[in-house]
Amino acid sequence: MKKEMIEQIDGYGDIIREIDVSRKFGSAFKDEKGKVKDYISHLHPSRIQMRVLDIIDETGSTRTFRLVPEDAPLPPFIAGQYITVFVETGGIRTARPYSISSAPNQRGYYEITIRRVPEGLVSGFFLEKVKTGDVIQTSGPQGFFYYNPVIHEKKVICIAGGSGITPFMSMIREVVECGLDKEIRLIYGNRSVDDIIFHRELTRISEQFDNISYIPVLEIPPEDYSGKQGFITGDIIREVTGNTLDKTFFLCGPPAMYDFCLPELEKLSIPRKRLKKEMYGAPENIWEYPGWPEGLSQDETFSVIVNNGKPFKARAGEPLIKALEKNGVLIPSLCRSGECSMCRVKITAGKVFQPPGVPVRTSDKVFGYVHACVSFPVTDMNIHI
Ligand SMILES: Cc1cc2nc3c(=O)[nH]c(=O)nc-3n(C[C@H](O)[C@H](O)[C@H](O)COP(=O)(O)OP(=O)(O)OC[C@H]3O[C@@H](n4cnc5c(N)ncnc54)[C@H](O)[C@@H]3O)c2cc1C
Ligand code: FES
Repeated sequence: MKKEMIEQIDGYGDIIREIDVSRKFGSAFKDEKGKVKDYISHLHPSRIQMRVLDIIDETGSTRTFRLVPEDAPLPPFIAGQYITVFVETGGIRTARPYSISSAPNQRGYYEITIRRVPEGLVSGFFLEKVKTGDVIQTSGPQGFFYYNPVIHEKKVICIAGGSGITPFMSMIREVVECGLDKEIRLIYGNRSVDDIIFHRELTRISEQFDNISYIPVLEIPPEDYSGKQGFITGDIIREVTGNTLDKTFFLCGPPAMYDFCLPELEKLSIPRKRLKKEMYGAPENIWEYPGWPEGLSQDETFSVIVNNGKPFKARAGEPLIKALEKNGVLIPSLCRSGECSMCRVKITAGKVFQPPGVPVRTSDKVFGYVHACVSFPVTDMNIHI
């Protein structure tokens, strides 16, 4: 472009003046090179080496693991976020997300609290094999399941099931330790008294602090029990909540709890923007979801070929990511619930079933990408990674 033409461009004079000022007074940016990148990777590290400092027995099937960093200080997090642990067990390299149960004001460690899932690969590994002093690798804090003072009401109803208590424990601890101006009512469902995680601490906190209420709900209550019984129904939620209009609702627990609680919450006509739901992994019993191919057994197996390599078998009822990992194909993953997009793979031939509600970008649909953590093989297929 000719010089005279460039000079006609809007703002040309301002830019030239800025350049002059920067030449006279600007910093030597060469010395700053890499500093922003270093700062960002401190706040959002992709991997942290953590030492298991302590292991606390919470219930017969649940333990808390206190993790301290091996080198750099821990990045800050918001109560409700999770970290993903990367492990190798039984010859399989895999990853699982766990919500941080300690408070964010505690900057020296993260605690994760893990309940054993029957036949569970990683929960079993943690409960049986991990000892104090072991070093494990985790991600930095992730996720969007947290209180946002700009859009959320100060009165919060937390509904938890089983191990879904962990993000709420972090929130409650922060409120009481930092004296935050927030009111939390926790409705916490479990099968029996012995299954309740943090029961003593929650009871003590609710007795000591007027702004924290704790309402356990038991499926199988003991004989002398006078509290709430059965499942967490709309009636229980309405009774605890009172006026639903000035409150924000948070829900966290295993998928079976959502199947029951979400319709109950719908009965209370709570608008979508005042209800926050944590994802909790791929749906169980995927074959019971609408749209599952008729007559297809969860145990049917299909052939999968990755990048024109050797074929292996994948089970219809199991997320594709698990079949990949069992066959030595490791792909990045964080949430394992269809939210973070880390596990996208391209299906070049064949089909998967994705449960309704899984967020898929339009461009992914067009170019054949899927989230392997919430995709289930329903034909033989070829994948490109
Ligand atoms: C954001 C997020 C935060 C989480 N936070 C926690 C936490 O704080 N504490 C915690 O204990 N877990 C938490 N989980 C669940 C955790 O990530 C694992 O899914 C769980 O530990 C089971 O993994 P596994 O390898 O032992 O079981 P897998 O080997 O993956 O599965 C074994 C079998 O158990 C079923 N299964 C898988 N997960 C569950 C479950 N949660 N409940 C019932 N059955 C299941 C599977 O369908 C499968 O049949 C969280 C999940 C997400 C997505
Ligand atoms: S691991 Fe997050 S979308 Fe699959």
